[in-house]
Amino acid sequence: MKALGIMGSPRISGNTDLLLDEAFRGAQSQGAETEKIMVDKLKIAPCREYYGCLRDGNCVIRDDMDDIYPKLLEADIVIVASPMFFYGITAQVKALIDRCQALWARRYVLKQSPPDSARRGAFIAVGATRGKQLFDGSILTVKYFFQAIGVDYAEELLVRGVDDRGEIKEHPTALSDAFELGKRLAQE
Ligand SMILES: Cc1cc2nc3c(=O)[nH]c(=O)nc-3n(C[C@H](O)[C@H](O)[C@H](O)COP(=O)(O)O)c2cc1C
Repeated sequence: MKALGIMGSPRISGNTDLLLDEAFRGAQSQGAETEKIMVDKLKIAPCREYYGCLRDGNCVIRDDMDDIYPKLLEADIVIVASPMFFYGITAQVKALIDRCQALWARRYVLKQSPPDSARRGAFIAVGATRGKQLFDGSILTVKYFFQAIGVDYAEELLVRGVDDRGEIKEHPTALSDAFELGKRLAQE
């Protein structure tokens, strides 16, 4: 079983990164292999609406997305992890997701058979404030993304009130919640 994690924060060893590591440890405890994509380190252009993907399901832009498409389609588990930036996921993850319009086109326009529907996904997010609607928009984005790539939105871990780098370590439950989330994902 392979778990792919999309680490959407530019801050390495920050709150998102630490949560994703714990989710990975949980998945590994059940025998899963894990791979983390550090989105901020990659060259991923935003979608330009060239719509070459409507012809054959492939994006016409050549950059680091070339390596990510197959990984997204092969993983048994996909975890999107991002801090909240202005009530949304980071621009880095949003660019990756928008480029998956090519996979959306394969599925809904070209009617190519979707990947195995037993694939499971999770959304891990952290923000500094405690607003009730802090994660609402991002949840919709991640759900729609998972739908496009044929992954069930199975789990979420949404953590409020955490700001400084590594402050997540002081949170009473977040890291163990992330571990359990990863474990459950790999068990099903
Ligand atoms: C550009 C920017 C925008 C942010 N916008 C929000 C926001 O809208 N709501 C919020 O609760 N926190 C916001 N934050 C705070 C981060 O979500 C918070 O510091 C988080 O813990 C960072 O996680 P990281 O260590 O994984 O990068 C923002 C931070 C930055 C740098």
